[in-house]
Amino acid sequence: MPSRGSSRIPGFYNKTRTERLQFIADAFELTEADLLALEGRGGLSPDQAEHMIENVVGMYALPLGIATNFIVNRREVLIPMVVEEPSIIAGASFMARLARQGGGFTAQADPSEMIGQIQLLDLQDPSQTRTCILANKAAYIADLNKLDRVLVDLGGGARDLEVRILEDTPVGTMLIVHLIYDTCDAMGANAINTAVEYLAPRIESDCGGRVHLRILSNLSDRRLAHAQVCIPAPSLAFDSFSGDEVRDGIIEAWAFAEADPYRAATHNKGIMNGIDAVVLATGNDWRAVEAGAHAYAARSGRYTSLSRWTSDSEGNLRGELTLPLALGIIGGATRVHPAARASLALMGISTSQDLAQIAASVGLAQNLAALRALATEGIQRGHMTLHARQIAIAAGAAGEEVSKVAGQIVSEKNINLEYAQKVVGTLRAEQEGTHD
Ligand code: MEV
Repeated sequence: MPSRGSSRIPGFYNKTRTERLQFIADAFELTEADLLALEGRGGLSPDQAEHMIENVVGMYALPLGIATNFIVNRREVLIPMVVEEPSIIAGASFMARLARQGGGFTAQADPSEMIGQIQLLDLQDPSQTRTCILANKAAYIADLNKLDRVLVDLGGGARDLEVRILEDTPVGTMLIVHLIYDTCDAMGANAINTAVEYLAPRIESDCGGRVHLRILSNLSDRRLAHAQVCIPAPSLAFDSFSGDEVRDGIIEAWAFAEADPYRAATHNKGIMNGIDAVVLATGNDWRAVEAGAHAYAARSGRYTSLSRWTSDSEGNLRGELTLPLALGIIGGATRVHPAARASLALMGISTSQDLAQIAASVGLAQNLAALRALATEGIQRGHMTLHARQIAIAAGAAGEEVSKVAGQIVSEKNINLEYAQKVVGTLRAEQEGTHD
């Protein structure tokens, strides 16, 4: 594992791209190949892409940025995020800076237990089939564990079998077998699908019925990740807003999502802004993660918030997030994509649980960033400030000039390229004047 520097890097956003890369290379001891991959020059090659999907004609790039300031379980971590939307990385980094006041994020992840489903139809006596399957459970598990010795030697393999009977479906009664399978550091779709395809004919011949589907469930609720944060109210204060006001505003904003699916969808989208960006950076299946998150949010029968915000007896703001996170660090694109490997190296990840803990922490930070902005000044000001920085850079501002030019065009409410060029000119003329 590379040695870890501090993730608190004041002014990281003001450095040039090359300076940022050099900085993380020095602090986190990355290899030349990792650096090239993060930079985009040594990323996925068209030849590698050719073997990943079908009918490849080219490549599609997205920006990869680094969220700073994160401490997760007392460990400093720089977090690579791949995303096209501005403000996400700035928001997460800013909230991670506030979270440092309370020691950062704590997080936990369940074992990598995936659920594989087998659908049985045309049952003469569903409860008898169920009894038969459960009576054979130990034999089935033992057999499955002979199938993938490598996984079993790594500590994974079949763990349990559960049987559910679904009555009154559009095609009558069906019986659903859930195979619980620990896929260790893999996301595990291949392992679990292989296992259920292997087991299905055996169940059919032993216990009757007709096997239909055999596939994993993306509602991987045996593989939950949890993150928590505690922020002292005074650190939430800014401009004319007191810390208590911001804290209470955040709790009121969360309560809206808790009570209303229309708001919860947007609230959870904000959480997924952060999680998906980490999932993408590490070459994981973000559709699986999205499906799992939203299904989990609706588990009570009413879609609701994935997070929860409260205040404690000392007036601190406390946040927590729980969602299924089926993430792998081996197999699939995580192994093939050089930038995914470099992203894992940068975070010093050694298990899929580490990755899930970090992704959940980023989701919680992202949720906080959105709620803090929405509960106070609205989100447009932050967006406009970032937009102004991009305009300043396009106008030729560099280094410290970027903040000065952006600050001026925002405060004068004149955010356009022409005016930004004028401000850059004036700034440089003033500087030359001071050197005369
Ligand atoms: C925008 O990408 C995400 C937000 O809409 C999330 C939220 O409303 O909580 C700002």
